[in-house]
Amino acid sequence: MVKVAVMGYGTVGSGVVEVLCRNAELIENRAGTAVEVKYILDIRSFPGDPHEDKVIHDFEIILQDPEIRVICETMGGIEPALTFSRRALAAGKSVCTSNKELVASHGAELIALAEENRCNYLFEASVGGGIPIIRPLNTALTAEKILEITGILNGTTNYILSKMEKEGAKFEEVLKKAQEKGYAERNPQADVEGYDACRKIAILASLMSGKTVDCRDIYTEGITGITPEDFAYAKALGMAIRLLAVCKAEPDGYMAAVSPCMLSEDNPLSGIHNVFNAVFVCGNMVGETMYYGRGAGKLPTASAVVADVIDCVKHQGTHIWCLWDREKIALKDFGQVTGRFFVRTAVSDEAAVEELFGTVEKIRLPECPREFGFVTGEMTQDAFARKAEKLPGFLSRIRLKD
Ligand code: HSE
Repeated sequence: MVKVAVMGYGTVGSGVVEVLCRNAELIENRAGTAVEVKYILDIRSFPGDPHEDKVIHDFEIILQDPEIRVICETMGGIEPALTFSRRALAAGKSVCTSNKELVASHGAELIALAEENRCNYLFEASVGGGIPIIRPLNTALTAEKILEITGILNGTTNYILSKMEKEGAKFEEVLKKAQEKGYAERNPQADVEGYDACRKIAILASLMSGKTVDCRDIYTEGITGITPEDFAYAKALGMAIRLLAVCKAEPDGYMAAVSPCMLSEDNPLSGIHNVFNAVFVCGNMVGETMYYGRGAGKLPTASAVVADVIDCVKHQGTHIWCLWDREKIALKDFGQVTGRFFVRTAVSDEAAVEELFGTVEKIRLPECPREFGFVTGEMTQDAFARKAEKLPGFLSRIRLKD
């Protein structure tokens, strides 16, 4: 029997307890021993909860209890999760986490600490909720040079964009629904401004490069500027709009970015709807692969945490190797990254558009009589910004996925 502690009894933490209880028998078979929750750490009390008797408020109880071999950190945020994780690992207790903020900012340090203390710091649930993506990158694809990872990594924004696309619903209404369903972060700005997807692509980019990719170096743009008119143009072009998080190994270095993109209906990522996430991974030997599933929500995310718990139980006393060095990688200057852009501008700009962008096909929508849209040729981000500045009636732009 292995006893575990769950730190943080919110959406994911309560899901972890539920998965461990509901699937107890098969988890015992797969872990080779029973796995039981001994403590639930939270600042709140939960009167009437079936696990009320396990709720504690003092982390020292977990740390001092030699029976606790594995800890689930489902608290979120940096502190006190960082201090608790450091102290647990230093004491040789494995930690399984869904905390993408902490993994993105301190992943390399915590993995190294786990290695020093012959235990594990596992974080499958930190990216893509219930989608297996960390383990495939670390095991099944470990013979590959990864050339590209492009993901729909935030369930809340994908839910919002899908509903806006299908139902013509308003941004604020759909965001409220996503919050009610438990998909959104406590501060939904992290979802809609792209910060959550940025943390997740930073984690994947770090595993891809084996070094540390700092979130602060990743160009990040959210979906708050996306309008129903954008969807109308996208439909006319046979395209979808999705928030994409991208990391590519280019000949002159790694590029990483998060931004809303228009992508062709032939691209499999355009078919990802609602809270679902998907991760496209291209390796130099295997070619294109894709991973799909629920990217947010209680039980899918909890299932990934529990899978890590089982791995820790099976590897007690040993460290599962993970290449993520503390050395920081310098990303390519995003201004020099090339791409194409969909642009909306006032009808009065017709001549200026020709002069700046050459001959382009104009897309006109009856519902937008005072403007038109067009797609540019390939150019750097900086070159586009300089040209857009010269269009007096410039309204907006969305990047195109190549
Ligand atoms: N707020 C996140 C999302 C939760 O919507 O994807 C899962 O990380």
